Amino acid sequence: MSDVAAPEPAAPANGSPIISLIDVKKEFRIRGKPPVEALRGANLSVPRGSMVAIKGPSGSGKTTLLHLIGALDVPSSGEVHVDGEELTTMSELELTDYRARTIGFVFQAYHLIPNLSARENVALPMEILKVPAADRRKRALSLLEDVGMDERADSKPSKLSGGEAQRVAIARALANEPSIILADEPTGNLDTQAGGTVLKILDRLNKEKGATVVIVTHSGRIPPLCDLTFTIRDGKVTSAQESKEIAAIENQKRTLRVALSLSEKFVDRLVAAGFVDVRAIADAPLDRLADVVGDKNKAARVAKRARVLAENADVIE
Ligand SMILES: Nc1ncnc2c1ncn2[C@@H]1O[C@H](COP(=O)(O)OP(=O)(O)OP(=O)(O)O)[C@@H](O)[C@H]1O
Ligand SMILES: [Mg+2]
Repeated sequence: MSDVAAPEPAAPANGSPIISLIDVKKEFRIRGKPPVEALRGANLSVPRGSMVAIKGPSGSGKTTLLHLIGALDVPSSGEVHVDGEELTTMSELELTDYRARTIGFVFQAYHLIPNLSARENVALPMEILKVPAADRRKRALSLLEDVGMDERADSKPSKLSGGEAQRVAIARALANEPSIILADEPTGNLDTQAGGTVLKILDRLNKEKGATVVIVTHSGRIPPLCDLTFTIRDGKVTSAQESKEIAAIENQKRTLRVALSLSEKFVDRLVAAGFVDVRAIADAPLDRLADVVGDKNKAARVAKRARVLAENADVIE
């Protein structure tokens, strides 16, 4: 695990990062209430052409960060560099162009326009760039085909399942061939299968079209698919992990879940506290385990089971 909280994020070995945030702060002020510090000096460096995940507890600033990269909002201080441009120095006109050309946004709740068909929704962003109507219609259909939704081109969003609506939303995000896709919990409202289809599409966009994909997520399934995973806590990016490391940790967690019949929540707590395998848990002082799982009886049960498994492992060895 590497610390990326330094003010100057290191550039990746393969060239300059496509997205770079330097000491970014964002404060929300609502009259009559104390200000909310959503970002408190965030530093982030996203390699060009990578697929990255951003995870962190609810309220830690993930959506705020994505909005700043997408120029849907402006920072209170700090710098947001995207593709060689510093967003805070751009005019409103330049920002409109930037949002339309460089960024494709995918939201958890799809945000399709209800009275437009799938095809009209996908064609809409092309209007900003003044693409002729016939070309818009043609390209919209081809984009829907890419996400397997061409047969539903004339359907209104209310007639689509969540997974189908999200595929249309991805096609819309791709309308102007953006170099960056920003997805805010894109599978958050979907079941495992529909979420898997959406992830495959994002992965394909990254691998085949070279788009940089940034996915904010609470799901443990997404980080292993990404090149890098950033963690945000209390408005700061606190760590960055490479995917092999993440896949190895997920593997350890799965083993512990099965071996000790524990829920994801408890396994996460154990691993975060450094108890990464059955042996470490078997050898741990009971008080320490109780602190970590937050329940003495549960800790005793887990320790007992871990000891039995560890002893059996000795016999097998
Ligand atoms: N427009 C706003 N006005 C006031 N406060 C806001 C606004 N947007 C976000 N906040 C606050 O900023 C903090 C960070 O919010 P943000 O939406 O970025 O968190 P998040 O990490 O995306 O959380 P979640 O996982 O729940 O989506 C929260 O305390 C939130 O209440
Ligand atoms: Mg959010």
